[in-house]
Amino acid sequence: MRCPLCHVLIAATLLCNVLLLYYTWHLNSRPAGRQSPSPTLSPGITVIVREFRTFEHGLADLNHSFLRARPNLRILIASEALPYPPVPGLNILRIHPSPEQPVSAFRLESQIHTRLVALVPDGTSLNPPDLLDKMARALRDAPSAVRIVAAGAGPVLQCLHLNVSLRTWTAEYTVVSAGETCGAVSGSAVLLMRSRDLFDLPFPLARPVQSTIFIQAALRGWGVKVLKEATFPRTPLPATDHGKWKAEQADRAEEAATMRALNIRLVRGLEGGDRWYGCSKETQRCFGTVVGETPEYLYEGRWTPPCCLRALRITLLHVVKVLEASNVRYWLEGGSLLGAARHKDLIPWDYDVDIGIYLEDITLCPELRGAQGGSLVDSDGFVWERAVEGDFFRVQYSQTNHLHVDLWPFYPRDGVMTRDSWTGHPQDIEFSESFLQPLQTLPFAGAVVQAPNNHVELLKLKFGDRAIEEPQYPNPALLKMNRR
Ligand SMILES: *[C@@H]1O[C@H](CO)[C@@H](O)[C@H](O)[C@H]1NC(C)=O
Ligand SMILES: *[C@@H]1O[C@H](CO)[C@@H](O)[C@H](O)[C@H]1NC(C)=O
Repeated sequence: MRCPLCHVLIAATLLCNVLLLYYTWHLNSRPAGRQSPSPTLSPGITVIVREFRTFEHGLADLNHSFLRARPNLRILIASEALPYPPVPGLNILRIHPSPEQPVSAFRLESQIHTRLVALVPDGTSLNPPDLLDKMARALRDAPSAVRIVAAGAGPVLQCLHLNVSLRTWTAEYTVVSAGETCGAVSGSAVLLMRSRDLFDLPFPLARPVQSTIFIQAALRGWGVKVLKEATFPRTPLPATDHGKWKAEQADRAEEAATMRALNIRLVRGLEGGDRWYGCSKETQRCFGTVVGETPEYLYEGRWTPPCCLRALRITLLHVVKVLEASNVRYWLEGGSLLGAARHKDLIPWDYDVDIGIYLEDITLCPELRGAQGGSLVDSDGFVWERAVEGDFFRVQYSQTNHLHVDLWPFYPRDGVMTRDSWTGHPQDIEFSESFLQPLQTLPFAGAVVQAPNNHVELLKLKFGDRAIEEPQYPNPALLKMNRR
């Protein structure tokens, strides 16, 4: 070729290409946070053992049984601590970060390279040898909403429906009718799912593994398919009495910690009845000082934690019992009366209970007399005190837990119920004494309590004409209810 310019052009083009290639390679190889493409996953199944106790386990037997049946499985033991005494030769996935290690060491993505994962509880054997393959086929053939296949590990599984409501901090299990998809199972199970789905869960391996996965699955609308044909043989571990006892203690503590982390405060429908997490007389109220009548949980789209509602009901019923025993005339006030009119209970986002009393009746009640001078803890642990914010009384659930009932003393003046100090809330107004003559009773919070007569009229006066039918948050100027 007799064209020096052509040579230069060809050389320049080649150089450009090389530069471009280098540039794109450089871009791709840079860690780009969320955008970095996840590595391709190979066919096969990684077995993850998370449910075991380091002090008494059958990991060597499990390893042996699974690898004998399927030699190319990879078995990962997921644990915050090493099994003790140590079992050499197991693959350990440390799940708690450690300050000297790179963060990738604790990422599931860097440890799991197969498309499928099986979560297997300790004590399980792989028999028949093709059971995991069966589960994989069931997952492949299932409708796309099914993201988890469960097979019994020991007993036969029961299929359950799981309803998780973050707004009411509640997970509720119910038995499903035949033909419905399950959202959870009861009984020890092997769970098989796609690795990518597991990576998508913010709490992939928190204990208890099964219910934690089901709760997250329920929030994503994932179904669970139960493999009916076969179950894995399993010897529950630990097997010794001491080991069992230790494991049960740890189970309870871990379950409570995980449910709190998931923002679940009440689990219903499992054996043993309702399970409450948090909010006792010994724990602090689970929300801070309320500003602008709008508690912090409302901004997060949640209503009052159910344990707080329960504590409020208990405190109210205690106060009512004491007032009735001393013949103090009292009635439901404000938001509590509104809740009674709407659904015979506290408004589900309310944070306290309001009661009106006759000022002159205070002397009839030893607890109120005691509270006038300061504060008094009664024999049931409730705290009676004069409120610091104004001329009213407050009864707290306990000395530690400040959930409370407020008691507002009114007196009649020319047939009108009035007070010397007001909260400034629009509903806090004078009203005719005729609403209290006579008092009536209304069902409320699981009991029957006293209330103004003609309460619907009184509520219209206090809250406006449509307040009963059209619920609104306490301070719509700050936060409006989102009606969907
Ligand atoms: C796991 O099982 C395989 C197959 O039985 C065996 O060769 C290996 O030594 C076992 N590893 C451990 C740590 O038990
Ligand atoms: C699930 O919970 C919601 C809200 O608490 C309720 O409205 C719904 O009826 C529940 N569904 C089932 C099947 O329990």
